[in-house]
Amino acid sequence: MRVGIIGTGSYLPDSILSNFDLEKIVNTSNEWIVERTGISYRRKADDDVCSSDLGAEAAKIAIDRAGLSFEDIDLIISASSSPDKFFPSTACIIQSKIGAKNAAAFDLQAGCSGFIYGVTTAAQCIATGQFRNALVVGAEVLSKFTDWEDRNTCVLFGDGAGAAVLSQVESGGVLASILGADGGGADLLELPAGGTKEPASFETVKNHRHYIKMNGNEVFKFAVKILEDSVKKVVAKADLTLEDINYIIPHQANIRIIDAAVKRLKFPREQVIVNLDKYGNMSSASIPVALDEALNAGRIQKGDKIVMVGFGAGLTWGANLIEWSL
Ligand SMILES: CC(C)(COP(=O)(O)OP(=O)(O)OC[C@H]1O[C@@H](n2cnc3c(N)ncnc32)[C@H](O)[C@@H]1OP(=O)(O)O)[C@@H](O)C(=O)NCCC(=O)NCCS
Repeated sequence: MRVGIIGTGSYLPDSILSNFDLEKIVNTSNEWIVERTGISYRRKADDDVCSSDLGAEAAKIAIDRAGLSFEDIDLIISASSSPDKFFPSTACIIQSKIGAKNAAAFDLQAGCSGFIYGVTTAAQCIATGQFRNALVVGAEVLSKFTDWEDRNTCVLFGDGAGAAVLSQVESGGVLASILGADGGGADLLELPAGGTKEPASFETVKNHRHYIKMNGNEVFKFAVKILEDSVKKVVAKADLTLEDINYIIPHQANIRIIDAAVKRLKFPREQVIVNLDKYGNMSSASIPVALDEALNAGRIQKGDKIVMVGFGAGLTWGANLIEWSL
C-alpha cells in the first residue's frame, strides 16, 4: 500500500521577537546571531498559550486541506518537545480541541526529529491496515523552557506548529524512511529537571534546571554529519540518487549546519528549503512548517521527490523520502 501526505497546515503565534529585542535582554548582537545562526526573528506565544493550542490550529488546517472531517482521523501522533504536561499526552488534548473523537492518540518523544519519527510511524500504522487517516503534529512553545538569561540558547529557539495528514495514496507517497538514535549523547541537549532523575524542587528552579541546556559545539558537529549521512541513506534505501531529488527540507536549527551539510552532499543550495531566518529552531514544528510554506508557495509539485531530514535531542535523527502525490 502507498501512503503519503494528503494535507498540511501550520500555525504561528503573532508576536515576533527580533534579534534587536534580544539585544535588550542578554549580552548579544544582531550581527552575532545572524552570522553564527542565520536567525533574524522568532515567534513567541502569549503566556496563556500552550503547545496544544498551536497544534490544534495547525491540525485543523491540515485536515481541511486533506478534504477530511475531524471524525475521519483515526490516529493522532504529537511529537512535541514542549508538551502541555507530562501526562496526559498532548495528542489527547489536541484530539479533544479539534473533536477528532474516533482517533487513538499518543505522544512520541524524539526531540527535533519528532516530526520525522511521527511520519515514519504513521505511515507504518496505515500501511499495516490498522489505521486509515493519521494526523502528525509538531507543536512547540519552547519559549517557556528557554532560559532568557542564557545567550547560548535563548537566541536559537522559537514557537510554532505544523501538522500533516497521512493516508493511502494512488501514486508516490513515502518511498523510504530511516530513523536512528545515539543515547550516548543524551546529555548534549536536554531539559534536566522535572522528571524522576531530578524532580522539581526549590533547588532545581533556583538553578535554572527546568530550562534547555545544550553543548552547542558538540551538537553542531553531530548535526552536520548526521544530516549528510541521513540524506545519503534514505536516498540509497529508495534506490535513487541525489540527482532524483527535487527538494531537501532539513530541520531548521542553524544556517551554518544546513550549508555545511548541503556542501558536503554537493546538492544545489536553491533546492534546499530554508525558513529559519523568520522562525528560529521550532524543534518538531520546523520541518512541517517549512513543508507547508513550500507547498503554499507552489514550490512542490506532483511527482516531486523531497527528502525531509531531522536531528535533535536524544540524540536522534531520521529522514523521509516522499514522492509528492497531489
Ligand atoms: C550555539 C551555536 C550557535 C554557537 O555558535 P558557535 O559559533 O559554535 O559559538 P561558540 O559556542 O563557539 O561561542 C563563541 C563565542 O560566542 C559567545 N556567544 C555565544 N552565544 C552568543 C550570543 N547569543 N551572542 C553573542 N555571543 C555569544 C560565546 O560565549 C563564545 O564566547 P567566548 O569565545 O568568549 O567564550 C552553535 O554551536 C550551534 O548552532 N550549535 C548547534 C545548536 C543546535 O542546532 N541545537 C539544536 C539541535 S536540534
